[in-house]
Amino acid sequence: MSYYQVQSLEQYFKHYNKSIREPRKFWDKIADENFTWYQKWDKVVEFDMQEADIKWFINAKVNITKNCIDRHLARRGEKTAILFEPNNPGEEARHISYNELYAEVSKMANVLRDQGIKKGDRVCIYLPMIPELAFAVLACARIGAIHSVVFAGFSASAVAARINDSECKMVITSDGGYRGSKTIDLKGIVDEALKNCPSVEKVLVVKRTNANINMKEGRDQWLQPLLDEAMANSVAEIMDAEDPLFILYTSGSTGKPKGMLHTTAGYMVYSAYTFKNIFAYEENDIYWCTADIGWITGHSYILYGPLLNGATTVLFEGVPSYPDFGRFWEVIDKHKVTQFYTAPTAIRSLAKQDWKWVDGHDLSSLKVIGSVGEPINEEAWHWYNDHVGKKKSPVVDTWWQTETGGIMISPIPFVTPTKPTYATLPLPGVQPVLMDELRNEIEGNQVVGSLCIKFPWPGIARTIWGDHQRFKDTYFSTFPGKYFTGDGALRDEVGYYRITGRVDDVVIVSGHNLGTAPIEDAINEHPSVAESAIVGFPHDVKGNALYGFITLKEAGSWRNQDNLVKEINEHISSHIGPIAKLDKIQFVSGLPKTRSGKIMRRILRKIAEGDFSNFGDTSTLLNPEIVEEIKNGKVE
Ligand code: WT7
Repeated sequence: MSYYQVQSLEQYFKHYNKSIREPRKFWDKIADENFTWYQKWDKVVEFDMQEADIKWFINAKVNITKNCIDRHLARRGEKTAILFEPNNPGEEARHISYNELYAEVSKMANVLRDQGIKKGDRVCIYLPMIPELAFAVLACARIGAIHSVVFAGFSASAVAARINDSECKMVITSDGGYRGSKTIDLKGIVDEALKNCPSVEKVLVVKRTNANINMKEGRDQWLQPLLDEAMANSVAEIMDAEDPLFILYTSGSTGKPKGMLHTTAGYMVYSAYTFKNIFAYEENDIYWCTADIGWITGHSYILYGPLLNGATTVLFEGVPSYPDFGRFWEVIDKHKVTQFYTAPTAIRSLAKQDWKWVDGHDLSSLKVIGSVGEPINEEAWHWYNDHVGKKKSPVVDTWWQTETGGIMISPIPFVTPTKPTYATLPLPGVQPVLMDELRNEIEGNQVVGSLCIKFPWPGIARTIWGDHQRFKDTYFSTFPGKYFTGDGALRDEVGYYRITGRVDDVVIVSGHNLGTAPIEDAINEHPSVAESAIVGFPHDVKGNALYGFITLKEAGSWRNQDNLVKEINEHISSHIGPIAKLDKIQFVSGLPKTRSGKIMRRILRKIAEGDFSNFGDTSTLLNPEIVEEIKNGKVE
């Protein structure tokens, strides 16, 4: 029996039980049967959950790009691997076959090698959603360089912080990017960032918008002429199973972003296995995930997962609202998309538009529709299920994280009966548990608690780049011996999971995971600001939006608060990016603090939500009178 794909509910339970009783045998078989290896493993897994030391497929040798590309060439050489749909619907789509992908990735790999990039070097990729982004990522993997893709919406200082944290030697960027009706000056942002990045020796620049940009002598080169000179074939680097594959930054609840490190073999096995199951992919399907490759969803479910399965994956440069709100539906119709994977925030914003935008397009090609990034509310779930899936394409509400590498809890289409707002059941190999405040495991059903995972799976991140202690502290110490997700969840009467949201200081805004601390740091740098506290509050399109409580150095000194609000948001935009802007700002004379000086965010969260009923225990507050003032001044 193969464990690679679950075909029925009965089989799901069989696989699941096997994966719990004999996890080593379970993963051994999946890894053995579905990939090509230079050398197989001596041992399937070794781990110490106290020390957060986890290794999979010990001593195996592999290259993920051999599995994504080379092994498909004989059977699928002419099949479209990447279907590029440009921002502007007037620009022709590009069908990049597996043969072409091999050639493009080889050329890029050869250029990187020529430019002195070696196995283990870090390369920062800051590109819009164009084919070169995919080629660059895969070229790094081909030669064993560690890619660190930075989402092209981050500001110069955010880019610089990420480059410096992992000491990237090279940046790959473009002269600009298209995003709806706007263009973004990516090269200008990189130039600004690199004023403070001593590790960067070279910058390769893709031409996309033909914007007029500066090229720094000795550092910057146009990529195309180098590619034109490069050979279209290449030898893949032999990688150890645990050699790093990539770093991807995610916000933490404190301080600087965390560079999550994923390694080669475990990530490969897990992203491939989950893709196959969650999207029920079959040979001639056209699969589309609307995420950006700058996030983990794009890594695992635009590139690696689909390519490992020899799929056709759509790479979409645009946005859902350009040139009009019918864009997603038009693309589904145009390319006869069979699997569609997007975020609740996009669903909610499209559900609000005139019905005519959906109605004019034929969505009958769809078989499976997915949701990711934040809890999907009941209304959005039904709209998606009824109007996009037409009640025949199951909605897969997929719960996972940057840290998990791949989907953990989700319905398997045509296998697991769906339930609105529920991510339903763990995939085989995933062992979720709910924990109570006393750190005990909560048994049984109809319970709520903190969501942990009690046994490693191949896709789990191995560390935070340069800071293993922080990795241990963040994920393995709250509930010793278990991986703590930071999410709360409930388990219903049949054992289905529903993720209720973060239990820490991370807020998910439009599906973007934002730590409140770095935003506060940015605000506090404004010369007029003394202190700030950011909390999330429910928003009908974004899921959550940000509310800032701010104290000023000289209270009342700012006559024109509108200007100050604008300045603070500009400050946030330039330090972090426009996604982190505050929806509401309230200037207050003080923040509610405990005697030890800790801001009581719980109270601020309730005020921001408009719930003044019960602030819980405020006896430890140093300044209880401030709560009344803040309540009265709440911004609507
Ligand atoms: C956090 C992880 C997963 C890739 C994109 C986001 C929230 C994610 C769901 C879902 C409820 C979800 C969680 C999680 N989240 N998917 N289906 N239902 N919540 O990755 O930026 O690492 O964020 O997103 O809170 O911890 P990320």
